Amino acid sequence: MRINKYIAHSGVASRRKADELVASGNVKVNGVVIREAGFQVSEGDRVEINGKHIESSEKKVYILLNKPVGYVTTMNDDKGRYTAADLVTDITERIFPVGRLDYNTSGLLIMTNDGEVAYRITHPKHQVTKTYRAEVSGYLSNTRLAKLRNGVDIGGFVTSKAKVEVIKQLKNTAIVEIEIHEGKNRQVRKMFKAVGCTVVRLQRISIGELRLGRMLEGHYRKLTPKEVEMIKTW
Ligand code: URA
Repeated sequence: MRINKYIAHSGVASRRKADELVASGNVKVNGVVIREAGFQVSEGDRVEINGKHIESSEKKVYILLNKPVGYVTTMNDDKGRYTAADLVTDITERIFPVGRLDYNTSGLLIMTNDGEVAYRITHPKHQVTKTYRAEVSGYLSNTRLAKLRNGVDIGGFVTSKAKVEVIKQLKNTAIVEIEIHEGKNRQVRKMFKAVGCTVVRLQRISIGELRLGRMLEGHYRKLTPKEVEMIKTW
């Protein structure tokens, strides 16, 4: 949507006044001043006028989806693969996935058109806990576990302390639950690789207090108003 239309929809200013606000450098998108009235605002963009966050007045929708393996979390895929949005069939608003979940990872994915809620969940300063259940090949010795728990270098970034619980250790594979507080690209897979193990299956089971529970893969539900309010306190 063009920035002037977005501002007008938010009810903050008329379309003409919006043009003026943009031209005079009072509007920022994702922290950067923009001056072209034709600038396109995309899903998840954060728009500010004179430092105040504004949102378009479209009805807000919040979905908790159990993403199966084999779906990307971008809105379009240049390889033509299925997207998480393809699974949400009865919502007319344009919702977008909050953060990413790899093509080969299943589990809890929030989708919304509320930029503020997306920001709460993903911004590193909020350090929202994400829990994953991983099937890992390799033996999780105490040394390896200690490294994962204390922080490992995943290529120029050292992860913060993580909670790691071995649910089941077989001879050469283990089922592990791991809680992390950052959201680096392929973080869990890289953490295990850094200690010499390979993740063969990965599922996100919670984000903060939101849990996947027994939801079937490919299914989804709306968040309750209480859950949405809770996210806004993160
Ligand atoms: N860590 C990963 O390695 N992949 C994901 O999809 C999420 C976290």
